[in-house]
Amino acid sequence: MTESRSVVITGASRGLGLASAAHLYRQGWQVVAAMRSVDAGMARLRAKTGAGTGDARLTGVTLDLTDPASVAAAAKAVEQAVGAPYALVHNAGISAAGMVEEAPVSLWERMFATNIFGPVALTKALLPSMRAAGRGRIVMVSSAGGVRGMPATAPYSAVKGALERWGESMAGEVAPFGIGVTILVTGTYDTEIITDAGTTDSRVLDGPYARHHHTMDKRGREAMKRAAKAPDRFAGGLAQALESTKPFVRRSVGPDARMLMIANRLLPGAGMHTLTRLMMGIPRFGALGGTPAASMGAPDPNIQESEENG
Ligand SMILES: NC(=O)c1ccc[n+]([C@@H]2O[C@H](COP(=O)([O-])OP(=O)(O)OC[C@H]3O[C@@H](n4cnc5c(N)ncnc54)[C@H](OP(=O)(O)O)[C@@H]3O)[C@@H](O)[C@H]2O)c1
Repeated sequence: MTESRSVVITGASRGLGLASAAHLYRQGWQVVAAMRSVDAGMARLRAKTGAGTGDARLTGVTLDLTDPASVAAAAKAVEQAVGAPYALVHNAGISAAGMVEEAPVSLWERMFATNIFGPVALTKALLPSMRAAGRGRIVMVSSAGGVRGMPATAPYSAVKGALERWGESMAGEVAPFGIGVTILVTGTYDTEIITDAGTTDSRVLDGPYARHHHTMDKRGREAMKRAAKAPDRFAGGLAQALESTKPFVRRSVGPDARMLMIANRLLPGAGMHTLTRLMMGIPRFGALGGTPAASMGAPDPNIQESEENG
């Protein structure tokens, strides 16, 4: 890299954001690390990079994506620090565990506030300067749930799907101004978001979906932990993605994400449904009809509309 380009990374306090901010700093980028708790997050970043408190290549900016005033103030702080940023990485996010019946509507609201409404507002605030600069890249950190709606995490899947569609729409709009959009379909990495403690857990383990939870815990969540790669490996993928000069890119980071994208291209929707069901150990279609689940007010699976009989 010949000149020091600037990158704004949201959720840089920990997990993939922290690893990415540190990696890009080491590569010579001018990093704006946006986060809710700047003191704690910047202390972690400085410890990881060896950067001093006065280092102009590492700036912390306070950002709570659920608070419109915080988003507006963060956009101003970014422009004060680096002018028009070269890249904006929408990394911050929350996840959810629980069936649609179990997750409260307030969780859906918080999910969309954090993963869509806040990031959209931040993008709107920064786009005028990026457009005027006539170059740049906006990266959306998506997930398996953005490729295909995953059971037991509908709010998360819905928000990642929305993130991808937003990115695709925006790519068509901003490309003429020299700004590219990259959707990074992210595989499994060892951060708090994949743990019970790091997610908003609405599961009712002894309710109508007890059987799903039991097998999904054994197969899905344990397998997830085993498959998880080190966050630094994601950071390398993000760094590569930032080098693209294409107007629109949708690519995977991590082997499991790559396999999912291939399977989703090759198999019809009904096939993906069955594959997901088998991998997660979810009871077959109709298996729970007439059990106490139905009598407890759960929808009768026998009247579910589906072409799928797997
Ligand atoms: N790890 C994986 O396996 C995986 C897989 C696919 C996709 N992803 C995606 O990767 C991204 C990063 O996840 P991660 O694995 O690094 O998870 P993480 O360790 O839980 O980190 C989440 C980050 O988001 C921040 N955040 C949460 N709510 C926020 C808000 N209201 N305003 C500003 N920041 C907020 C957190 O800040 P605080 O420290 O203040 O809480 C934290 O920095 C997410 O978009 C996630 O969906 C991760």
